[in-house]
Amino acid sequence: MSPEISSNQSISRPPLEGKNVVLGVTGSIAAYKAADIASKLVQAGATVDVIMTTAATEFVGASTFAALTHRPVTTGLWEAHSALSIDHVALALRADCVLIAPTTANTLAKLALGITDDPLTATVLATEAPVIVAPAMDADMFASPSTQRNVKTLVGDGVIIAGPAEGRLASGLVGKGRLVDTNTLVGLVRQAIGRNSDYAGRRVIVSAGGTKQPIDPVRFISNRSTGKMGYAIAEAARDRGAEVTLVTASDLPAPSGVTVVNTATVADMRDAILPISTDADLLIMAAAISDFTPTDVADQKIKKKGEGSVSLDLMKVEDFMPLAQGKNLVKVAFAAETNDLEANAHAKAAPKGAAFVVANNVSEPESGFGTDTNKVTFVDPDGNADPQPLMSKLDVGHAILDRALPHLSQN
Ligand SMILES: Cc1cc2nc3c(=O)[nH]c(=O)nc-3n(C[C@H](O)[C@H](O)[C@H](O)COP(=O)(O)O)c2cc1C
Repeated sequence: MSPEISSNQSISRPPLEGKNVVLGVTGSIAAYKAADIASKLVQAGATVDVIMTTAATEFVGASTFAALTHRPVTTGLWEAHSALSIDHVALALRADCVLIAPTTANTLAKLALGITDDPLTATVLATEAPVIVAPAMDADMFASPSTQRNVKTLVGDGVIIAGPAEGRLASGLVGKGRLVDTNTLVGLVRQAIGRNSDYAGRRVIVSAGGTKQPIDPVRFISNRSTGKMGYAIAEAARDRGAEVTLVTASDLPAPSGVTVVNTATVADMRDAILPISTDADLLIMAAAISDFTPTDVADQKIKKKGEGSVSLDLMKVEDFMPLAQGKNLVKVAFAAETNDLEANAHAKAAPKGAAFVVANNVSEPESGFGTDTNKVTFVDPDGNADPQPLMSKLDVGHAILDRALPHLSQN
């Protein structure tokens, strides 16, 4: 019997459900961070098999990973209980992605040479799955000619190198050698697994966040959009193989594997989107673009003086979505409404040139601004409305992409 879903529960599909990820952990001081990576991959729905090098076991216990993944951990080729002791390429064949995080200079060098004297390097050599290597080491070790040569070799072999990031290192020095953060790595795994999916080769532009129109040098008017919906669409498109540009007025952390263009005003957003829309396949305008802007922007801070009210003169902002044009461009508009949802969304479709409008009633609970869920209705230019159930914003993103796909050009 399927579980009953109450009206305030969303049906959500973890992004890595059904996917097998091999997480390699090597003997870096950053090995403790791999526990968080394992946990986040499991939370994203993946089946995670951890392979540790002998040096890694000096830093973290295998039991930590076994408890987090609910699976046996491989620490040697000759262990009786290991999947690899029966078939040494078992994990390689099953993997949808191999992520090595952290990767030592030593393992990096072995991978570049094809040395397979431990279960991790043997798995990498035998797999056809994408391999992501996240180096973590002292900055001088990373900058050394041999490590740089090895990185270059691996890039040439099609390995994805993630980082390292700049920052404070275990030695106390600051430099390039830190393991990149967990969210970035999970995003790269999702992107690598989805690279040949139905949006492979498609260029998708997503706008997100609420634009900020200046009043004076210290004040602006904006709206309650957080950008969560647009970011979820960008991640969904990335996970399906698209080349994604996220034009954002939000300060949420940038999703990995996506080109992020930071903007503030409607004019910034227009200037970022119009030139690139000519070559794009899909433009999804999830940003809450200001409808009004101060008529005059003071060049100095407006002072509080006298008694009584202060009035702000506003003028309408021109909608630039109708100006976004491209040979193959399909456009999807958003309508955040508090009343007459379908009629208002329908009225927006034709003037904007949208294939359909994603209408959402932002006054409903668990829908609209700031929430992780959304309940939307798709409205087409003929006025047909297709209400969707309450879903995670990621799933709303997938539903939009499903609906847009048949509109995209077949060339
Ligand atoms: C305390 C300590 C910290 C270390 N941290 C790193 C590191 O961050 N990056 C690295 O490349 N090597 C580091 N090493 C050296 C590796 O552990 C060593 O090269 C080892 O042979 C790596 O083996 P593996 O690649 O099989 O895990 C560290 C060693 C010690 C003792």
